[in-house]
Amino acid sequence: MKKANEIDYGSIGFGYIQTPYNVRCYYRDGKWAEIETCTDENLSIHIAATSLHYGQECFEGLKAFRGVDGKVRLFRPTANAERMQRTAQYLQMAVPDTELFVKMCEMAVELNIDYVPPMESNGSMYLRPLLIGTGAQVGVKPANEYLLVIFATPVGPYFKGGMCGINVMVDREHDRAAPRGTGHIKVGGNYGASLISSVEAHNKGFDSVLYLDPREHKYIDECGAANFFAIRGNSYITPASRSILPSITNMSLKQLAADLGMEVEAREVEFSELTTFEEVGACGTAAVITPIASIYDPQTDIKYEYKWVGEKSQKLYDLYRGIQLGSAPDTHNWNMI
Ligand code: COI
Repeated sequence: MKKANEIDYGSIGFGYIQTPYNVRCYYRDGKWAEIETCTDENLSIHIAATSLHYGQECFEGLKAFRGVDGKVRLFRPTANAERMQRTAQYLQMAVPDTELFVKMCEMAVELNIDYVPPMESNGSMYLRPLLIGTGAQVGVKPANEYLLVIFATPVGPYFKGGMCGINVMVDREHDRAAPRGTGHIKVGGNYGASLISSVEAHNKGFDSVLYLDPREHKYIDECGAANFFAIRGNSYITPASRSILPSITNMSLKQLAADLGMEVEAREVEFSELTTFEEVGACGTAAVITPIASIYDPQTDIKYEYKWVGEKSQKLYDLYRGIQLGSAPDTHNWNMI
């Protein structure tokens, strides 16, 4: 393991870098046990665990930032706790309460505090809470034992170049999720199902994929592992659909756009509206706000092009980052210190 001061935080991407500790909590005999601190990166798991066979697995992603004042802030952990609760309920798993989830996040940051990148590097500490069914079942049934583990890893930009415009390809061959399936919750299966699209898009020279609604392919759904947003005039427009993961970044941007006096439209967004947008982008914990420079539709051979970084996207980015770094007022009390 590299020492914290041996890492060149300005040049790291969005990958895994080992940190000294992870935190774990087991659910057994109908209750959550004491939180454990662990130095081992590996898990020992039963060969019949439901997470391995039947997808009883879900995760979250959130970040801690070293701010302008040197303090470390954790961004909206309760929102992640609530999303994990919704996911766990859907998958019939044990549901961690908000207090447990947030306590474990705080411990994961504090125990690895030296690995929170310096502010100037533009990096952050990414927390990955993972909830898995560990109990053995061969029949397709919920497990009776679970593990919640949270590890921390320093990260840089998800897309190389950070606030650089990415090039996206429309995928009409694969859907990320079914119309009434699991698109709205954070299960690993959604991401597994997206790998074929992203690998094919990368092989063709694109940075990411634009998914359309799985029922009709008429509306815009998601952009790779991130939400999609667009700016038209004074409006912040973002798709609303049962097959989209409610991104906490997008939720925050909708609020900030409203705070800035913009109209917020969370609704079905027709693919044909792409010609009317001035700025478009992807947003998420990993992607932050990533401007989209172009969207290529292989069916029509049309490439839609956008300015980046557009003025409104930049304004939203500056305010959002300012709150995370403690240089803008945290008017909605999103940070936990
Ligand atoms: C996130 O933005 O935290 C994500 O979950 C995206 C991805 C890296 C899986």
